[in-house]
Amino acid sequence: MPLKSRISGTGSYAPENVLSNLDLEKKVDTSDEWITERTGIRERRIVKKGQTTSDLCLEASKKALEAASLAPKDLDMIIVATMSGDMPMPSTAAILQKKLGAKHAAAFDLNAACSGFLFGLSVADKFIRTGASQKLLLVGAEVNSRFIDWKDRSTCVLFGDGAGAAVIEPARGKSGIMSTELHTDGSLWDYICLPGGGSQHPPTAKTVRDRMHFIRMKGNETFKVAVRTLEKLVVNTLKANNVDPSQLAMLIPHQANLRIITATAQRLKLPMNRVAVNVDRYGNTSSASIPIALDEVVREGRIKTGDYVLLEAFGSGLTWASALIRW
Ligand code: ACO
Repeated sequence: MPLKSRISGTGSYAPENVLSNLDLEKKVDTSDEWITERTGIRERRIVKKGQTTSDLCLEASKKALEAASLAPKDLDMIIVATMSGDMPMPSTAAILQKKLGAKHAAAFDLNAACSGFLFGLSVADKFIRTGASQKLLLVGAEVNSRFIDWKDRSTCVLFGDGAGAAVIEPARGKSGIMSTELHTDGSLWDYICLPGGGSQHPPTAKTVRDRMHFIRMKGNETFKVAVRTLEKLVVNTLKANNVDPSQLAMLIPHQANLRIITATAQRLKLPMNRVAVNVDRYGNTSSASIPIALDEVVREGRIKTGDYVLLEAFGSGLTWASALIRW
């Protein structure tokens, strides 16, 4: 039987500080009613002063390692999916390696925005299946709050901070990652971007004045592409694996907007009790949203050995991705 990879432990962490829609009403021209109706978000978590992306990674990772009964020194690889790392260089994964004391792990970051965790899962799956890695830690983590324009109501109500982690190990038998599928359409890169601070627009007083160091999004255009693309993606992923939607125990979607999540579930005729939803409590935590949701359903006992679990994401790039897992 060919070697597969499996998730042997999960963990997540969200900062304690809660920012509600009512709090946002006091900052910008918005309303709890608009945010709830258009997005499903009621509140989000925001880091405290001095707290960084690697700090969130550390908390989530400790829980995932404990769940997998592993010590940091057992790890041979760490991948952090993030678009809001501690600093451009070194990688947040390197800083996490130090904080964890995971001395034997090669560590690097990967950026596919909101699809980052699933791009990371696909990379992890390959490393495990080729035998190049035996014990891999994959983390999706974001401190989006530091890259949000708090004067732009069209984006500041959407995002939150958090981290989710998964330990990936070899597996034989029926359980394991069955498939991963990755896509990018770079021609639509400007639908969601953070234009300042890179080699195209290095930081200057002008880039700061022009608010180029914040996330910009063409929300409505992105919404339409996301719904269309994700509906096609989930149907194709199940078909390619000969799994009927009725056999699916749990759909774990990226948490950007409840309307997108519902549309995808409806396309599969899935009742909402078989869909992981936490966008109401955390908002869009980008690459952290799927591992946080996965950790929640695992800890709530909502998935059991042998279940089919489908993960899907859509984000800046544009990128989109899926993973089908036999739990
Ligand atoms: N409060 C009140 N009104 C608002 C707000 C707000 N916070 N934000 C926008 N509006 C107004 C707009 O100004 C507009 O007013 P107008 O009609 O007078 O011009 C109206 O509401 C409608 O705006 P739309 O942008 O068309 O609203 P829409 O229904 O599309 O919802 C949203 C916006 C929530 C952003 C939605 O389009 C969405 O979820 N898009 C997809 C996001 C996504 O999936 N992103 C991918 C992942 S993110 C990543 O990768 C980093």
